[in-house]
Amino acid sequence: VTEDTPPLTLQERTLPAVADLIKSGRARRIVVMTGAGISTAAGIPDFRSPDTGLYANLAALNLPEPEAVFDLTFFRQNPRPFYVLARELYPGARYRPTISHVFLALLARKGLLHALFTQNIDCLERAGGVPGDRIVEAHGSFASQRCVDCKVLFDEGKMRGFVERGEVPRADDGVCGGLVKPDIVFFGEPLPRAFFDRMSAVKEADLVLVMGTSLQVHPFAGLPDMVNEDIPRVLFNLERVGSFGTQADDVMVLGDCDGGVRRLADELGWRDELEKTWREL
Ligand code: APR
Repeated sequence: VTEDTPPLTLQERTLPAVADLIKSGRARRIVVMTGAGISTAAGIPDFRSPDTGLYANLAALNLPEPEAVFDLTFFRQNPRPFYVLARELYPGARYRPTISHVFLALLARKGLLHALFTQNIDCLERAGGVPGDRIVEAHGSFASQRCVDCKVLFDEGKMRGFVERGEVPRADDGVCGGLVKPDIVFFGEPLPRAFFDRMSAVKEADLVLVMGTSLQVHPFAGLPDMVNEDIPRVLFNLERVGSFGTQADDVMVLGDCDGGVRRLADELGWRDELEKTWREL
């Protein structure tokens, strides 16, 4: 942030004020943090929404508790529930990026996206047009898979076949035959190196957008609290989450994130470009 960036005053803390920060050029290193809430409009359930969330709908798999489906110890004992779910979640052409994903691509296209930290494994940010070098996939992705024991990589084409058939792949290099797991971060696993390497970007932000996340899972959930206190944080979420509302410059746009993003695009004069880009995906 340059010295001459005056902090947002009380009455300025609204979407038009956020739009002015961007239009005036005072915000040009925007850091965004996203969760499953930005993909629900694409038809991918989030995790914790009461009725529609994944964790409310895994009962059929009779798990000890819903999160077990992403627990490494449980996976080693019983990989089947994960592979039932993987069939649902595996990225493919069937899911289309949302307006929110495309808005992030517009930020990048306009040279305003300093970094995008995502918890999502659906790769829709990339599909929506966000350049890969801007994206930090904090919880990994389905882009690669390996044996949980010897870490040998497993062929993607074979993986897609196993996932589509709902079968459990095992390392087939004739060495250990251990279970194959996609490189998504399970509970009990460390986050990718890139997450820690790129974390400093949060301190360089001059505007932070947090979208579609319950901020329940650490260390990702700690990112919004790393933001410098004079930097505005804008939440686009159905519900208030984390420490939002405790910092003077917090702006909360509560409701559907696509709607909130459309309102911001209107204030920015980007609405036509946003809708056109989304239609042409
Ligand atoms: N618009 C705005 N907010 C939404 C929308 C929407 N259309 N749909 C859902 N939300 C909000 C929910 O109200 C909730 O606050 O998005 C948030 C989604 O929270 P979670 O389901 O907990 O998803 P997420 O925060 O991404 O979960 C974090 O938990 O299970 C682990 O590793 C998994 O990455 C995941 C992590």
